[in-house]
Amino acid sequence: MSEAPDAEKAGSDVKKGGSVAFVIVGHDAPTTPEFSLSDLPGGAGRLDLLARCVNAGLFLSHGIRENVRVHLVLDDTYTVSFDGASVRNLSPDERNVAARVRGALEASDGAIGHQPAEPSPGVRLYRMGFEETLESVAGGGRRVSGPGEGGPPDPTAVQLHEDGTPLPELDVPDDPVFVLSDHHDFSDEESALLSEIADEHVRVGPERIHADHAITIAHNYLDTDGYRRY
Ligand SMILES: C[S@@+](CC[C@H](N)C(=O)[O-])C[C@H]1O[C@@H](n2cnc3c(N)ncnc32)[C@H](O)[C@@H]1O
Repeated sequence: MSEAPDAEKAGSDVKKGGSVAFVIVGHDAPTTPEFSLSDLPGGAGRLDLLARCVNAGLFLSHGIRENVRVHLVLDDTYTVSFDGASVRNLSPDERNVAARVRGALEASDGAIGHQPAEPSPGVRLYRMGFEETLESVAGGGRRVSGPGEGGPPDPTAVQLHEDGTPLPELDVPDDPVFVLSDHHDFSDEESALLSEIADEHVRVGPERIHADHAITIAHNYLDTDGYRRY
C-alpha cells in the first residue's frame, strides 16, 4: 500500500471549519407555490434537481454539515437559502426539501426589500435574483445585504463549469462559494457577471455531470483538503 500523503501525516495544515456555500441557478424553477410535490421534474420546473442539490450540499450520512449554506435561485426572482447550522427537521428526500421551498414561496409576502421571510428555522426566502444573490454571498467589494449576511467577509467565488480549470490544480480555497447552473447552461448575462465576480472557474472532471454530483465532488475535494487527507 502506498505511503500516506504528507498532509495526512502532518495534519496541522489541514483547513477545517471554514464556511462553504453553494449557489444553484434554477432557470425553470417555480416562483409561486402552486405546484405538486408529486411532479417535481415536470410542473415544478426541475425542482427535483434543486432539491438534490440541497441534499448533496447539506447532508452527511447521519448528520448535517453545519458550516454549509445552499442558495437556490428561483427563475431570477427569489432565492431560497438553507443554512446547515440552523435548519431543523429537514430530511434529505426530494419531497421534503421541495416542501420547504414551497413553504418559503407561500411566505413570500413577508420578504420585503432585502429582508427575508423565514417560514421555518434555517430556511429563508429573499426577494432577490441571481445578481443580487451573488453579490451578497460572494461579491467582495460589491456586497449587499441578503443571503450572504453572517457569512465570511472574504469568500472565494468558484464557478463550477465543464470548461474550467481542473479542480486538482486549485489551491484549496478559503470559505468557498461554488456557483452552479441547473440542467441549462449559464446564460450570457450570468456568465458575464460570473466573469467579473468569480475568483476561479473550475471543472471537477472531464464529463458533464449533474449539478448535485458536482457538489458531492466539491465536498470531497474540501473534505480531503484537496485530495491529501483520507
Ligand atoms: C447538467 S450541468 C449543465 C448542463 C450543461 N451546461 C448544458 O446545458 O449543456 C449542471 C451544472 O453542473 C456543473 N457541472 C457539470 N459538469 C461539471 C464539470 N465537469 N465540472 C464542473 N462543473 C460541472 C455546472 O455548474 C453545470 O452548470
